Parts: sequence; structure tokens; C-alpha cells
Amino acid sequence: MTAEGQREPQVVVVGSANVDRTVRVDGFPRPGETVMGSELATTPGGKGLNQAVAAARMGAAVAFVGAVGDDRDGALLRDRLRAEGIVDHTVTVPVATGAASIVVDASGENTIVVSPGANHAIPTDHLDAVADLIGGAAVVLTQLETDLDVVARVLALASGTGVLTPAPVQNLPAGFLADVDLLTLNEVELATLSGQPDVAGVEGAMAAAATLDVATVVVTLGAAGAVVVTGDDRWHLPAPAVEVVDTTGAGDTFCGVLAAVLARGDDIEMAARTAVTAGALSVTRAGAQEAMPTADRVTVVHSPGQSPLAGPSSSATLLAWESRSTPPDA
Ligand code: RIB
Repeated sequence: MTAEGQREPQVVVVGSANVDRTVRVDGFPRPGETVMGSELATTPGGKGLNQAVAAARMGAAVAFVGAVGDDRDGALLRDRLRAEGIVDHTVTVPVATGAASIVVDASGENTIVVSPGANHAIPTDHLDAVADLIGGAAVVLTQLETDLDVVARVLALASGTGVLTPAPVQNLPAGFLADVDLLTLNEVELATLSGQPDVAGVEGAMAAAATLDVATVVVTLGAAGAVVVTGDDRWHLPAPAVEVVDTTGAGDTFCGVLAAVLARGDDIEMAARTAVTAGALSVTRAGAQEAMPTADRVTVVHSPGQSPLAGPSSSATLLAWESRSTPPDA
């Protein structure tokens, strides 16, 4: 237990925390065009904080390391950490808290522009202060909304499973993936990092993932689920069909849940299966963290005779469960 009476963190997330400002539109504006949208929603987000929340809702003991500004947005993000029971290792820096402008269209697709602010000002000595925390975690999650040298240092400090989600994607320096044990990425990120022209579909993703010099690669395929490539093993884990409302937090839900399941000792196949289910649940509601499922929701979908993963994808199973278990105003 920590001094505050919390469990020792099994999952440590080092990464970004943003305030998301989201508006829904019927269709994305073209360059130069103005369109009218919905009321603005202001919610906690950021790929790092999102992953931390997803892992915590699965029951993992989680710590978050990042930076916020001394402003109202920073306070909102700290409140979310507290509400989710996540150990708060954010540092306050003299830069505005990170922010994201998000537009979601009628089909649930999104565009996101991030103003990194404090996320690019995590002090090096702060990482020194949390080196033991990072070194002692079963799983350490990183993304690319913080400086590359921060990510590299964190992965070097990790002695458990070091995970990188290379989003937003960029070309990485040679050797950058050397300390990555597990890479989780989507098809766009896979195409960039592998340099392969065709990563489409299950076979394309598996082939491109196998070219990356990382022990385990998990590629998320949206409605098609995910593939896992580890050594000579390959799995395709199909996703249940769902009605898509908003895909904003799906990738972060996937990563956070994957980490939580690995941290409790399950293998990568079970972790990815669970993460696919959680990711599918997350797109059925609006928002990123607002849409992330708790462990009881994901577990029920996995229970014998109920699991859409046991056979062909079944939206009926998933949605029937949703309507039974979720109060209308939840
Ligand atoms: O992955 C979704 C997240 O990307 C949003 O919450 C936004 O803050 C950006 O970081």
C-alpha cells in the first residue's frame, strides 16, 4: 500500500493529459468552410490520462505521471485522477494545460488537433523522482503526446512490460523501439512505422507487424478487431458488431484495458480479447473517458454463453446486455 492507503500501482502511465473540447457535426467542414455544430462538451482527455482511466476502470491499481498547468483545466484533470482512484504523480509547470479540439461527425468518426502545452514540459528531474515507481510496475504505458526523450527515458526505466502506443505517429529515430516490449498501434501508425505500403486487413497487418523489431505487436483494426503478432504466434481477435456513436477513446480504452489484464497475470491473447471487447463498448457512447467501460461491463460480455467472442460477432448479444445493465441516464 502507498502512504495514502492506495494499492501499489501495477500499471504506470506516463503521458499526456488534455482537456477535450468536443463538438458534433453532421459532416466535417471542408477547408475554408464554416459549419454549425452541437453544444461544446468539455471533458478530461489526453491519450495518457485516457489509458490510465481505462486501466483503473478494469480494476488495476494505476499511477499517472504527467504535467499540467496552474490553471482551471489542470484542476479538472487532477479531479478526474482523484475520482478514478489513480495515484497522481502530475507536476504543475508554468505552461497552460494541454488541450484538444475534437470534431465528431454523424458516423462517429473524429478529427483531433492537440495543443500540447504542459505535456511538452515534463521536467527530467520529475522522471528521476518517479524512477522507482516506473521500475516497479508490471506494465508501463507510453504514447507520443509527450517529448520523445521523456518516452525513451521511461521505457529505459521500465523493468516490467514497456508498452508504446506511437500516437500521434511520427518517424522515430533509429533504435528507438529497442526498449519497447509491446507495441500497440492502428493501421495508419503501422504503415508509417513499418514503411509497408499495404497493411490493410488481417493478413496485411500481420505481415507488416512481423517486420517490426518488437517482441509483441498488437494492431487495432477498428470494426475488424485486432491482431496479435508475438514470436511465431499470430491471432486475429474479431470485434463484436456495435452501433458506433463516437470512436474518440477507442484506441486508448484498448491500451488501458490490455495493460490492466496483463498486469493481473493473464496472457497477451486474453488481454487483447478483453481489450477488443472494451474498445467495442467504448464506441457505443459519446466522449473518451465518459464512454470507457468498467470491469463488470466487460466481464459480463465475456461470461459463458454471453460472449460475442466465443462465436461469430453478435451485436445482439452486446446490445442486449447493454440495455439490461445500464440505467437510461448512466
Ligand atoms: O485518443 C484520444 C485523445 O487524443 C483525446 O482525448 C485527445 O485529448 C487526444 O489526446
